[in-house]
Amino acid sequence: MEKRIAVLVSGGGTNLQALIDAEKSGIIKNGRISLVISNVKGAYALERAEKAGIKTETVIKKELGSQQAFEDKIISLLTENGIDLIVLAGFMSILSEEFTKTYPHRIINVHPSLIPSFCGKGFYGLHVHEAALAKGVKVTGATVHFVNEIPDGGEIILQKAVEIKEGDTPEILQKRVMVEAEWNILPEVVSLFCQDKLTVANNIVHIGE
Ligand code: GAR
Repeated sequence: MEKRIAVLVSGGGTNLQALIDAEKSGIIKNGRISLVISNVKGAYALERAEKAGIKTETVIKKELGSQQAFEDKIISLLTENGIDLIVLAGFMSILSEEFTKTYPHRIINVHPSLIPSFCGKGFYGLHVHEAALAKGVKVTGATVHFVNEIPDGGEIILQKAVEIKEGDTPEILQKRVMVEAEWNILPEVVSLFCQDKLTVANNIVHIGE
């Protein structure tokens, strides 16, 4: 049966857009984006979802008063909408161990570096690219991984390397990593998941035919 996908966002939503486009063009097989949840009011990602006719919800932690109430609200939305796969696409809020344990190997995240470099707490958005440039690495990239209780610590599913060029700024590098890596590997992993092609054994993800 077709899998129902929820995408959790906080900002511009270019990865969400890549998923919407990939669903339209048939790159995502056996999956439908059924719900977009933002933890930021007015995030541009919500407009992208609405334009594509996808149901949206906004869940604000401050208004709900606690992490627990925030996560309970998200869980009830996911349950009501019969969601099979949760995609974190630029979702800038760390989910608790309790939340991640509710959905073992059913949450994926896209991270803008080659994990285990430049990841974990504090490494998000442009900060990741600032750190890569400050270290002087010559290659960076993006990773799509399962989400567990350790920030950016779940099993790696797909990675793609991206070259760092002389004169790169964090902004230039961020864009190159998105175009060359994130926008390709995220839809690819979603499609693999929806076709039941991902298996995990001893913390290693295997991709089936
Ligand atoms: C993306 O580069 C994504 O990989 C990153 O934030 C950006 C969101 O952009 N996510 C993280 O850093 C998570 N740790 P988008 O809203 O345009 O998809």
